[in-house]
Amino acid sequence: MAKPKKKYVCQNCGSISHRWQGQCADCGDWNTLVEEAGETVFAARHNLQSGGREVRLVGLDSEIKLPERKKTGIEEFDRAVGGGLVAGSATLMGGDPGIGKSTLLLQVSARLAHAGCSVAYISGEEAADQVRLRARRLGLGDAPVKLASATSVRDILTTLSKDPPDFVVIDSIQTMHSDLIEGAPGTVSQVRASAQELIKFAKEYGTMMMLVGHVTKDGNIAGPRVLEHMVDTVMSFEGERSHQYRILRSIKNRFGGTDEIGVFAMEEMGLSEVQNPSALFLTDRSEEVTGATVFPALEGTRPVLVEIQALTVRLASGATPRRSVVGWDSSRLAMILAVLEARCGLSFSGAEVYLNVAGGYRLTDPAADLAVAAALISAHAERPMPSDAVIFGEIALSGEIRPVSNTPLRLKEASKLGFDRALIPASGEKAGKQSGGTVKRLQFAKLANLVDHMLARA
Ligand code: TYD
Ligand code: MG
Repeated sequence: MAKPKKKYVCQNCGSISHRWQGQCADCGDWNTLVEEAGETVFAARHNLQSGGREVRLVGLDSEIKLPERKKTGIEEFDRAVGGGLVAGSATLMGGDPGIGKSTLLLQVSARLAHAGCSVAYISGEEAADQVRLRARRLGLGDAPVKLASATSVRDILTTLSKDPPDFVVIDSIQTMHSDLIEGAPGTVSQVRASAQELIKFAKEYGTMMMLVGHVTKDGNIAGPRVLEHMVDTVMSFEGERSHQYRILRSIKNRFGGTDEIGVFAMEEMGLSEVQNPSALFLTDRSEEVTGATVFPALEGTRPVLVEIQALTVRLASGATPRRSVVGWDSSRLAMILAVLEARCGLSFSGAEVYLNVAGGYRLTDPAADLAVAAALISAHAERPMPSDAVIFGEIALSGEIRPVSNTPLRLKEASKLGFDRALIPASGEKAGKQSGGTVKRLQFAKLANLVDHMLARA
């Protein structure tokens, strides 16, 4: 006989255990296990090899139907989602509270509505008046978007199925409540059940569904990391609240690549598109300052120039020096410092080191190593980098500088923004075959060569 089992679900990662514990055994978070209604487990009484319907098996080489993409007309958004939204697909939009998810989706809704799509915006967080007020402030008050403030999935789906819209925003999935399952909104099982119902609706009616999800402190889409498996596309809306810039990044995309980003700036009238992100992340560079380098980062196929700043402060002996990093990996910084000490004889052990990526940008590109090292050398030796130079390359523990991907693209972007010099890894390619604009290349095989070069400059 079926017997309901007690279960405790981690609200952070969704892992299930059958007794309560203070710490989740999977993700290690504390006090996240919450008792949730057990599901009934049916014993397998039937032979699974009979009684089912036969599914059609096809070969890998059979005909492909590419999904049709609906462009919203907001280019940065379309680019990030892989060229437009797909009918019958569910997209999760994650991001910190207050980063601008509701604003962006309201703008997307208005665009689609103006373009003739039927659009419904369901807010579980704000009253309809609040959303309307915001729309008016954004100058979107006249868009034919249907608006509702609701949290019951049953009510929402009953309403939507009367006249299924082309595009639906659910803001946010954590406020939704399904009566098919017990538990308060926001718990993992509620979020999962609600999402399941909503996604089923999207597939059934060919609706483009956007689910908003708030993110926990450690950067996971809140609790419901489980959601990532259920939706077709996972987008993350990132940025520092104290900065203007916002990056829309795709983390998973069943219909396309995940290597494009959309860049926006949060302004008085909502989010505006930033077509030339490099100009945005670079501070005014008319003067040469020590400790600053320019790094041509690559976001998918899109180059973005960012400024890396380093500051070193000599310490009176005895104190433990601080290492502080904003926008980069701190263990990577420790590695670069170690390589500079062991392979180049530059010691930072008596100094505090601060590293900052300007503009609130987060770097993940390994080619940033060399730019970081150059910023550190420049700060340490108080020698500014020439203001017309960009620098990139990966550093190995041996102190060798490794070539990185897409050198021509990076050089082209640098040249477009007026940089004349590039400090790059030595590579096997012949001088004649090099492409990438008119930028003069200075190539380095070892980090020690770069140190010599920078210290020799008067
Ligand atoms: P919001 O879209 O509500 O964030 P989320 O849905 O991700 O929680 O955006 C909230 C912030 O955006 C708020 O702090 C104010 C700012 N904002 C602007 O600067 N300009 C605007 O036009 C709007 C609508 C919001
Ligand atoms: Mg919101």
